[in-house]
Amino acid sequence: MKLAISGKGGVGKTTLAALLAQAYADAGREVLAVDADPAPCLADALGLPPDLRAQLSPIAEMDELIEERTGAKPGTTGGFFTLNPRVEDLPERFSVLHRDVRLLEMGSVDLGGSGCICPESAMLKTLFTHLLFREDDVLILDMYAGVEHLGRATVDFVDALVIVVEPTRRSLGTAAKIKTLAADLGLDRLWLVGNKVRGEGDAEFLAAESPGIPLLGTLPHALDVQTADRQGIAVYDHVAALRDAATAMARTLSAQLEESQS
Ligand SMILES: Nc1ncnc2c1ncn2[C@@H]1O[C@H](COP(=O)(O)OP(=O)(O)O)[C@@H](O)[C@H]1O
Ligand SMILES: [Mg+2]
Repeated sequence: MKLAISGKGGVGKTTLAALLAQAYADAGREVLAVDADPAPCLADALGLPPDLRAQLSPIAEMDELIEERTGAKPGTTGGFFTLNPRVEDLPERFSVLHRDVRLLEMGSVDLGGSGCICPESAMLKTLFTHLLFREDDVLILDMYAGVEHLGRATVDFVDALVIVVEPTRRSLGTAAKIKTLAADLGLDRLWLVGNKVRGEGDAEFLAAESPGIPLLGTLPHALDVQTADRQGIAVYDHVAALRDAATAMARTLSAQLEESQS
């Protein structure tokens, strides 16, 4: 199962990605979580201990590796480099395993047509496509805010695009834009998750104003989320209400997927 998590900046994509990753891992699934944010923070959301965190760095910043694999130094253009470097060994080599969640940091990936034609983007695009082709049990992609970077492979291989929103018109507007972009690419397997919900009114607002995207579930607003963040512990461990809600969402997603495949 391959899930991509998208939405406006700050709505809670990383929080949800970490919750779902741990929920699937605790249900006995093998999870590969991929942080595709230029400022990665999924490691913190998963509550990785400092020694593991120290072993991680985004592939996008591995200049020597990029040069070794593509044949050119990152940041250069116009020279010769390979557009399909070897990447199969990278997920195992550069990820860390924590409580049955394997985490890989990629850094920003631009899969659309607008990205530069340079060694680092060739490397990241190839790696991203490779991840989508791999037969991981559960792949969770914590995407960078927009979906401009959604490419063909994402559409073909992602089982569900989960769009996180807050109960505000602005974030629903972003969700509507994401839906249009996804539709242009032919992706219609979308789900909405409402985060920072402060009561019935918020939940009703989301259900009523959703841009035609089915609501997978909601996560309550909880000050404990910020406490967990400050203390470097996973929201999954610290805030039972969010853990339980995410566990239910993980189950719904699996069930829906099995249904659509049978
Ligand atoms: N349910 C929630 N209740 C309270 N604060 C939250 C909740 N979900 C996320 N946050 C806070 O909102 C901020 C952004 O969350 P994050 O998951 O990093 O968003 P994104 O990945 O979309 O940028 C963080 O400071 C996080 O602690
Ligand atoms: Mg994030």
